[in-house]
Order: sequence, then structure tokens, then C-alpha cells
Amino acid sequence: MQFELSQIDKVYVSSQENQVFGAKDVNIKIHEGDFMALVGPSGSGKTTILNLIAGLILPTKGSLKHGTEDITSMSLEERTKHRLDYMGFVFQDYQLLPILTAWENIEFPLQLRGFSKNEIKERVDWALAQVGLEKLGNRFPKQLSGGQQQRVSIARAIAGRPQLILADEPTANLDSKTAQEIIELFLKLNKDFKLTFIFSTHDQHLIDQIRTVHYIKDGHISETREHHV
Ligand SMILES: Nc1ncnc2c1ncn2[C@@H]1O[C@H](COP(=O)(O)OP(=O)(O)O)[C@@H](O)[C@H]1O
Ligand SMILES: [Mg+2]
Repeated sequence: MQFELSQIDKVYVSSQENQVFGAKDVNIKIHEGDFMALVGPSGSGKTTILNLIAGLILPTKGSLKHGTEDITSMSLEERTKHRLDYMGFVFQDYQLLPILTAWENIEFPLQLRGFSKNEIKERVDWALAQVGLEKLGNRFPKQLSGGQQQRVSIARAIAGRPQLILADEPTANLDSKTAQEIIELFLKLNKDFKLTFIFSTHDQHLIDQIRTVHYIKDGHISETREHHV
């Protein structure tokens, strides 16, 4: 599998023609089963790095690979398909569709990928059970708490059994107890199914539980710490 960023720069040009480094000489390798976080203050480049890995933005310089595939040489359509096939996403604000039930929110990306009805049912039921919401599939997002909505979005991210789950500040909208529960759920999914995670956070309480922590400063990885968890 292995996602690999080598010597990546991402330069944004602002409206005043100023150049801003969103990422600067970033080197990251992600292997199957990794549990990795990007930690740094607001504006340090966490979202930029996640968006690069997702192929949502392209680097100004450097190489971005998934296995032997070069993401930077894909067309926009190829990158979109690649993302749908191999990656799951979890967002700070959940991004559930309000007009769909929890069950249907999880179903939707599987439909886009053309899975059969039976396969979809099996995967959605499995994903909802993994996040402990098997009884709440018929609820709409507004009938769920923030923590429950985030669980639905995690179920949506894992239902396709992606090679990588990317989560941008997944606990930032949650109280500390619920945030801790969400990280424990990530850890359980990592342990039970070898699901691979990379996520951003600036929550200091969570950091000791994360196996690999990249500290980001001004677009650059200033330090990497490994914890034995
Ligand atoms: N689309 C953009 N255009 C110009 N500058 C941007 C854009 N996106 C991010 N930046 C800048 O890049 C830097 C890193 O931003 P970001 O990756 O969003 O950091 P974080 O997620 O850690 O808050 C910041 O200085 C930010 O202002
Ligand atoms: Mg961000």
C-alpha cells in the first residue's frame, strides 16, 4: 500500500501575490496499520498535508505516490476515482447529508462505487455496528448528538474498507470526553481491522495515545515522536 510524500512543497499564491508555504519539504511514509497524527497550531499546514495525500490539491514540488502510482500524474477524474476507491474521510463538522438517514449517509458513497444492493447492506450494517450505532440507522443527523454524528461519519469512512482514513481535526467540535471516545474508536478499528489512520489534531490530551506524531510548524515537520501504544 504505502502512501509516500517526498520533498513536497505546496506554495499558495494569495490575492496580493504573496507566496505562502502551506507545506515545506514534507516527507511522510504511511504504511498499512499506521496510526499517525499531524499536530500543530492553526495555520501550520495540517489541512494542506491531508489535502495533498488525498490528491485534492497538487504539490508545487516533490513526489506524491500511492504504491507505484504517481498521484500527481493522474487527471482530475482519476484522482477523484482513486480517492473514492482507496480513502475514507472524517471531518471536523461531520459533513453528513441532512436529508439522508444515518444508514443512507453511509450507503451513498458505496452506491457511487457501484456495489450491489446486498454488498451495500452488508457493509453499512457492519460499519454501523463497528461504531456502536446499529439501532440508530433510521435517524437523521439532526436527531443525533455531535458524537453520534461523528460516529456515523466514521462508519461512512470505513464502510468501503479504505486503505487510508484521513481525518481533519475530527475531535475539534466535541467535548473532551466524547473526543476521547472517538480516539478510542479509531484505536479499536486500527487494532481490530488494521485500518490505517492519519489525522490532524491540536488536542494535547490525545497525543500520548497516538503511535506516530508529526509536529508541524510553518508547513514543515519539525519533529516526529513515536509512542508505544
Ligand atoms: N487556498 C489557500 N490559499 C492561500 N493560502 C492558503 C490556502 N490554504 C491554506 N493557506 C495557507 O497555508 C498555511 C497552512 O494552512 P492550513 O494547511 O490550512 O493549516 P492548518 O490546517 O494547520 O490550520 C496557512 O498560512 C494558510 O493561510
Ligand atoms: Mg486545518
